[in-house]
Amino acid sequence: MMSALIFYNDTHIMKSIISLLLLTGTLVVHANTTRPEIIAISTDSTQLIYAVGDNGRLYQTYLGPRLANTTEATLLPVNRPGGTDGASRMVTWEAYSTAGSETFFEPAIGALHADGNPSTYLYYKNHETTQVNGGTLTKIHLADDQYPFYVTLNYMAYPAENVIKTWSEISHSEKKPVQLTQYASAQIYKDAQSFYLTEFTGDWGKEAGMSTQPLLFGKKIIDTHLGSRAAMHASPYFIIGIDGPAEENSGEVLMGGIAWTGNFRLTFEIDNDGSLRVIPGINPYASTYTLKANETLTTPEFVFTLSQHGTGQGSRDLHDWSRKYGLKDGDGDRLTLLNNWENTYFTFDQDKLGQLMHEAKALGVDMFLLDDGWFGNKYPRNNAGAGLGDWDANKAKLPGGVSALVDSAKAAGVKFGIWIEPEMVNPKSELYEKHPEWVIQQTNRQPYYYRGQMVLDLSNPKVQDYVYSIVDRILTDNPDVAYFKWDCNSPITNIYSPYLKDRQGNLYVDHVKGLYNVLDRIKAKYPDTPMMLCSGGGARCDYKALESFTEFWASDDTDPAERIFIQWGFSHFLPAKATSAHVTSWNRNTPVKFRCDVASMGKLGFDIGLQDLTADELAYCREAVANWRRLYSTAMDGDQYRLVSPYKSNHAAMAYVAKDRNKAVLYTFDIHPRLGEKKLPVRLRGLDPDKNYRVDEINLMPGKKSSLKENGKVLSGDYLMKVGINALTGGDYNSRVIELTAE
Ligand code: DGJ
Repeated sequence: MMSALIFYNDTHIMKSIISLLLLTGTLVVHANTTRPEIIAISTDSTQLIYAVGDNGRLYQTYLGPRLANTTEATLLPVNRPGGTDGASRMVTWEAYSTAGSETFFEPAIGALHADGNPSTYLYYKNHETTQVNGGTLTKIHLADDQYPFYVTLNYMAYPAENVIKTWSEISHSEKKPVQLTQYASAQIYKDAQSFYLTEFTGDWGKEAGMSTQPLLFGKKIIDTHLGSRAAMHASPYFIIGIDGPAEENSGEVLMGGIAWTGNFRLTFEIDNDGSLRVIPGINPYASTYTLKANETLTTPEFVFTLSQHGTGQGSRDLHDWSRKYGLKDGDGDRLTLLNNWENTYFTFDQDKLGQLMHEAKALGVDMFLLDDGWFGNKYPRNNAGAGLGDWDANKAKLPGGVSALVDSAKAAGVKFGIWIEPEMVNPKSELYEKHPEWVIQQTNRQPYYYRGQMVLDLSNPKVQDYVYSIVDRILTDNPDVAYFKWDCNSPITNIYSPYLKDRQGNLYVDHVKGLYNVLDRIKAKYPDTPMMLCSGGGARCDYKALESFTEFWASDDTDPAERIFIQWGFSHFLPAKATSAHVTSWNRNTPVKFRCDVASMGKLGFDIGLQDLTADELAYCREAVANWRRLYSTAMDGDQYRLVSPYKSNHAAMAYVAKDRNKAVLYTFDIHPRLGEKKLPVRLRGLDPDKNYRVDEINLMPGKKSSLKENGKVLSGDYLMKVGINALTGGDYNSRVIELTAE
């Protein structure tokens, strides 16, 4: 057999020769004795560098700030002296390490080949780089030397946003299916003296709570097994503070998230050399994946940034990336709304909804959003136990159907949006009676119902068609429906797919891919219809789902004191315009102004009846809505600065600065200050030091004058950033909204 030497600088000719040699079976891809060229994945500020070792395998040699001279990266060793006995034992960072090889730490991939062999060795074949939608895509092709088993590593680098998106594609042409026991999206290494993990965990009503811990030898895993959504107990996001706990405005931090709307696993492992490997991916829990010959398993994208200026810069980069490339209609407008859920729950009729549409108009919002409870006839949806799956308007509550509601909204002068939960079914429904085989369930066991419902089997293409048809039918019958709130209240329970039969290990994965198929079809046909993603609160918040949604519901917990923390957590990864925040009657002890100011930091909405507002409060809300709209481009499309952390004080402060730095808006909150505590001025960030800004406190209750010392003054950006504004107070639940305008 002929052995060929591969030069890593691809040309078309080289690629053709390689393909020819591969086809004729004469190419052995390994053992390049010349120094391999490096492969650099570069943003304007960060580089991730790979090199091919003498053994023909691919290794990461660097992740850090961008090198001024990339060619110097050829000096970086593939084998670095490590371990306790120094140079005699080398430490390597294989780009996508494999089970069954000499990898002593957590591998990225494990495969049982068709002949039962559990080992995989991946050798570099070639790579190519192309310009794609705002970034540079590098594809590195690897192959096993003994099996026709292939992995392509993909790296999409977004230069200006300093974000890298990476995922893998796994395929083979073995004689029988291969069983994949793990199949990470990527494997990223980092060297430092110490590492600190910040995780975003909680539960229903307390999403994205932040806590930090050092990473010591061994593994720390954050994962979920919820099937139909990524989050609830843990969000699919993390921050690693390098050489110290992550700071807001300084230091190196790695921040990222796995773009997957199902079971995910983030593995952080410190090895014997004290280096960190991060392995993000689908959780292989109960999911040994059967991959047939010539099929490709494309793993979810892992989206990350490496900031040299703390989490603040990292978040701003992720927000920019998300608005440009992540979120549905990321650079577009958002609709303010009045939702009826907290106000009516399931008890309403056509007249009541008509009245609420006029209340929406009175509040000055753009839309009325009808929530759960509008459908089901044989099994009316009057509580959570019946009707899911039967998407015809309930005739008793809504004799005129959806179209009458659309007409009433038009008459009231607002748009109309509607709630659906299309992936779910109640056992008490006509859908379940007709199609029990469409449901994920184990017929030989007692079912476990979460919120009285079950999950439709989206691995089945017929079920995908059905779920798609729910949205399609509503919009075909009522083209003026302007918005959807898409809910998903149950994790997958009773895991078994009648459709997948002997490939049950694929269910958790293929179910989520089935969901994406539905969402892609909806987005293709209705690109301009905004949709809110909701999952019993904020359990669906991952980057992939948000490609199909303009916003997500951060939590059912709308107590503003709690919401400050929840929104603070999510703000690390998701832009404000994606974060739906509503004014409700949760925590009536807080002033409506406080509730409204908290909600105004995100995508503003209301879920409250006018009976719960005084005339002054209503007037206040109207003004807050108008101000939110007026400051939309500053806040929702600007740069976010977290200034005072509620985790470190009894206050919070967040500012948004317009991209041209001519306008800024500062939100400050006093949650529960201690008696006589020291209150420092809030120092702004991101302003132009050479510009002068007029300071105006806005969002004041009718008849109330600002007591802010700096109100009405013109101060330089320099002063505002070095000295700040005396915005904090010693009272509970005070809040301020301060507009800064360059003169
Ligand atoms: C859970 C959501 O989080 C709520 O906002 C509401 O839509 C209910 N579902 C309706 O059942």
